[in-house]
Amino acid sequence: MQDMFKVVFPGTGRSVSVPAGTTLLAAAQAAGADIYAPCGGSGRCGKCIAVVDGEQVLSCRHIINSDTEAYIPRVTDRFMTGGTAVTFRTDGRSRLAAAFDVGTTSLAGYLMDGSSGQTLAVSARLNPQQSHGADLITRIQYCLSGHPEDLSSPVRDALCSMLTGMCEEAGRGTGEVDTVAIAGNTAMMHLLLEKDPKPLTVPPYMPLSVSAERFTCGDFLPACPSAEVRVLPCIAGFVGADTAGCLLSAGFDRVTGTVLLIDIGTNGEMALTHGGRCTVCSTAAGPAFEGAGIACGMRGAEGAVSHVRFEGGQPVCEVIGGTEARGICGSGLLDAVSSMLSSGMIDETGRMQPDGSSGWTREDGADAFILSGEVFLSQRDIRQLQLAKGAVRAGIELLCEEMGIEPSGIDRVLLAGAFGNYLDPHSACATGLIPPCLEDRIVPVGNAAGDGARMCALDDSEFQRCIAMTASAGFLELASLPQFQDRFIESMSF
Ligand code: FES
Repeated sequence: MQDMFKVVFPGTGRSVSVPAGTTLLAAAQAAGADIYAPCGGSGRCGKCIAVVDGEQVLSCRHIINSDTEAYIPRVTDRFMTGGTAVTFRTDGRSRLAAAFDVGTTSLAGYLMDGSSGQTLAVSARLNPQQSHGADLITRIQYCLSGHPEDLSSPVRDALCSMLTGMCEEAGRGTGEVDTVAIAGNTAMMHLLLEKDPKPLTVPPYMPLSVSAERFTCGDFLPACPSAEVRVLPCIAGFVGADTAGCLLSAGFDRVTGTVLLIDIGTNGEMALTHGGRCTVCSTAAGPAFEGAGIACGMRGAEGAVSHVRFEGGQPVCEVIGGTEARGICGSGLLDAVSSMLSSGMIDETGRMQPDGSSGWTREDGADAFILSGEVFLSQRDIRQLQLAKGAVRAGIELLCEEMGIEPSGIDRVLLAGAFGNYLDPHSACATGLIPPCLEDRIVPVGNAAGDGARMCALDDSEFQRCIAMTASAGFLELASLPQFQDRFIESMSF
């Protein structure tokens, strides 16, 4: 019989018995102890750190062969739950309504009074799927390897516990919740609802179903079994119900003028409305803006360099939580590259230009620049940023071409999501992520997808409106455009 060993995760209240030979990461997943594992356990990212016997180990490479205590470093995350000044219409019924935005990185929840629309409580936490990879494809592959339940039930449990916590905070009972609206990208919706995500991994990347759904909660969220669940509609494989929520909260069916909405994460989803037409597209930005795939990259959490400026040739870093710098997140990366471009430390091809002054170093045989303490920016990081920003910029330009306008004809750029909210518009334009002519037209709109879900929870007619808007939106498949590759490559240079 195989030896079994007990693995305890102090400080989390979690422990598990696993067979000898199990990785520490697998043990943590089995115990429900969250370990950040951006590459899904393939040993490439170097981020799944835990401490065993006083030594730092990579949890996906550490094999359990004895009883083990593993400390997972705690990180205080920064969440984006706020939206803009959306007016929430209600159907006037006396009840509670809840809404969730199921993001790849984090989950945001809202509890509202059904008759007044007033927000009673807000909750946010990391998506527990993160221990199966930072990006969608890694998680989908894990799901397809025979573990769909491992990805859906932790999220359902998390939503249930958030709902219970919000009701407690508001001094109300979960049984009073009669509507729960859910938004999220197409892959998240498939994984949550246990639909086969395989079609999202093969051309033409169209999901099994994009329809909105409405069903009675039952076991889905046992805290409020008789509530009605409203799942916002998706549009395409990588333009999901989160974009539908953004379109609704931004009122894309009613705006005048030409408005571009961008939600940048591992995918850049965008929508452009002009002359009464709305077209959406998605571009694979990759995980750089989420801090993955970057040598010192991390989420936008305590210890992350979130902004950088240069004074007297020296970097001055703003760190989330005011602590010592532990890594750099997407907005810091964009600022650092923008500042280094303007001071000639990076040329327009993206090559670093070391001049022998302090701060320059070598990492893994290539140039690097130290930003703060042990946090540096490497030549490879800049290439990752170029890939990400090239994909987004190419998407913006091709979307404009599709609609017959120049980027300069855009009246407003709405930036949705956490990265869009925290990035510096000047850095976004100086690096070419967003066309420079639009710098003074950028408006952050916070968690617009969450706002859309809240609108759908509070008023069924808004849910119907959301369905109608997404049904009439055109979808531009960028990858099928012959000019996409050339435009992408052009857009990579600074
Ligand atoms: S190195 Fe372990 S999850 Fe990436």
